[in-house]
Amino acid sequence: MTAASAESRPAVVVVGASRGIGRSIARVAAREGGPIVLVARSREGLTEVAAEVRAAGAEPFTVVLDLMSGDVAQLLQAELDRSGLYCDVLVNSAGIGLRGAATLLPVEDQIRIVDLNIRALSELTLHFLKGMAARKRGGVLNLGSIASFTPGPGMAIYYASKGFVRSFSEALYTEMLPIGVTVTCACPGPVATEFLELSGAGKSMLFKVLPRLDADYVAERAWRGFRAGRRLVIPGMSAKLTALASSVVPSALMLPLIARLQRRSGDLCPCGSGKRYGNCCGK
Ligand SMILES: NC(=O)c1ccc[n+]([C@@H]2O[C@H](COP(=O)([O-])OP(=O)(O)OC[C@H]3O[C@@H](n4cnc5c(N)ncnc54)[C@H](OP(=O)(O)O)[C@@H]3O)[C@@H](O)[C@H]2O)c1
Repeated sequence: MTAASAESRPAVVVVGASRGIGRSIARVAAREGGPIVLVARSREGLTEVAAEVRAAGAEPFTVVLDLMSGDVAQLLQAELDRSGLYCDVLVNSAGIGLRGAATLLPVEDQIRIVDLNIRALSELTLHFLKGMAARKRGGVLNLGSIASFTPGPGMAIYYASKGFVRSFSEALYTEMLPIGVTVTCACPGPVATEFLELSGAGKSMLFKVLPRLDADYVAERAWRGFRAGRRLVIPGMSAKLTALASSVVPSALMLPLIARLQRRSGDLCPCGSGKRYGNCCGK
């Protein structure tokens, strides 16, 4: 962390701020001024976004932290204490995904999705929400996805992790409502960030047919929705329609459709034979 202060001041803490949607949210939040704590592993990315945040009128602090390491909430709390800050708003934007058959993807890579998207997000939310509840102010903005509205064959753990994020966030929203603390879940469809390449999702048909939104647009909608005290924000018409379809189309139709759209031509049969999907057991 790069600066210190004698008095405890409210800060916006953006986790997953070095790039993508988190970086855009940090810039949007920076327009309100005040301290913004930027958290991620990439020192270089954080340095760049810190300059953007400063240019937008806020006071940036950077914390290089791997959320896969243990005790992330305690480590972040210690950094805040050292700088005389408290977490008034927590933005959980760090997230990873993996496209592919659950039986063919390495188990440890899939469990890393649980560790980051579920465990780290829950740990940070539960830790900082206590202080917000006691102060009766502030809130949490969690990044879910339209993937939270349905199971996702071909990206099973990722969709399930986002289902957790939405369920957890909406429950906390209701618990916190009477005391004036907001918990918002933002659920975008495909967004043009590195996530699509890193997860492999960008090459599937599903992510090709759905329009890709700009990270700045998603950040604006998510932040505005959070500040308006909304439970759920689904940026863009295509994402709204997808979420609606996921809720009304019967699973017996929806799941095979998602499985098909999420497959690619070279994909292998999940039985592990090494043969192409469709030339083996698949129908
Ligand atoms: N892009 C989409 O299409 C899309 C759609 C719906 C929902 N979402 C969700 O939106 C959120 C943001 O996605 P994005 O598109 O902005 O992804 P992104 O561009 O890949 O950015 C992910 C951010 O998370 C940080 N991060 C990843 N692993 C980390 C770790 N172990 N410790 C600390 N930080 C870590 C990354 O920073 P470092 O690598 O520097 O650590 C980066 O700042 C995710 O939760 C994602 O699931 C994305």
